[in-house]
Amino acid sequence: MEIQTVKDAKLIDNCNRHLNYLRISITDRCNLQCRYCVPHDLIPKLSHGEILTYEEILRVVRIATRLGISKVRVTGGEPLVRKGVYDFLKALVATEGLKDVSLTTNGVLLKDNLLKIQSAGIARINVSLDTLNRKKYREITGYDDFDRVWQGIEKAHDMGFYPIKLNIVALKGVNDDEFVEMAQLSFRYPFHVRFIEYMPIGQSDFSAGSLLLAPEIKDRIRAIGNLVPVQGVQHDGPAQRYKFEDAKGEVGFIPALSQHFCNKCNRLRLTASGHLRPCLLADHQEDLKDLLRKGCSDQELANIFFMAIRHKPSDHNLASQNPTRVCSQMRAIGG
Ligand code: GTP
Ligand code: 5AD
Repeated sequence: MEIQTVKDAKLIDNCNRHLNYLRISITDRCNLQCRYCVPHDLIPKLSHGEILTYEEILRVVRIATRLGISKVRVTGGEPLVRKGVYDFLKALVATEGLKDVSLTTNGVLLKDNLLKIQSAGIARINVSLDTLNRKKYREITGYDDFDRVWQGIEKAHDMGFYPIKLNIVALKGVNDDEFVEMAQLSFRYPFHVRFIEYMPIGQSDFSAGSLLLAPEIKDRIRAIGNLVPVQGVQHDGPAQRYKFEDAKGEVGFIPALSQHFCNKCNRLRLTASGHLRPCLLADHQEDLKDLLRKGCSDQELANIFFMAIRHKPSDHNLASQNPTRVCSQMRAIGG
């Protein structure tokens, strides 16, 4: 097979999908223990030596930008628990070729670190917030941090972060009684309130029961107003965007199961352990760390990207007739 060189090739897969969005999980550690994400008995965490160093990640990103990656999202675990993250964000934002660098966080460490995040050049954030109820927050996450998170979100808003996207994983019998209240936030704030279909992957203590899918969620919140579709823009993620008439913010749906968006998927993932993963919901991944630590050339790293996109499935596994369980933990992949 012909080797494509770093200079001339872009990441376009067999389904003609242009891969321009890299999600980077910088740690598998998290300061919450959400029931739907991890089992309550501790999962082994990667040791310091097993995760990519920031220098290694930045090198991978430099190669990736030459291959057409222009959007990067930093995830975890919880990215803000990793030491040195603010200097890393600054270096990442300064990488030539990146047009959009953002962060997905659980918000626990947000309030006291917003200035550092803003100074690093990050202008928008996505925050996971599955409930507006303090007691329920503790039940879902294992920690009494609702107030801190909410204060962090409000402060981010006051400081001009825009948009602030609130990620709500729809959990039947857990938070579905709050959907209307959550959607109503979009009248008071310019937030993007996004309902995400729960994806049953890895091990967790949560039994999904019958899944709550986007059409049903949409029906429930239509009760409070007319949902008008919002036109997407170039660097949009997978959410279907809507707005209530006269609302300041938006409401979105991420229908990962009911109406998967694989044909438009533009994403690759770099895991904290240094693997390049072509699909969130398929366990195949390519090892970059081993090569990096053997002193490989830029071309060899680029070849791993091309190898990864050859394994990018046309549709994800959970959408197939006979889905098989995805073994990897969400926490290790970064969502
Ligand atoms: P924006 O660029 O701000 O729209 O970000 P995003 O929606 O891509 O990122 P975020 O980290 O906020 O993810 C929101 C939800 O979308 C999470 O539950 C992710 O797991 C899910 N998601 C993101 N990318 C994919 C994907 O490629 N496939 C599937 N099935 N879900 C995805
Ligand atoms: N299904 C859907 N979304 C999930 N997230 C974590 N686990 C799941 C799951 N099983 C969400 C988090 C976070 C985003 C990156 O992924 O709530 O907001």
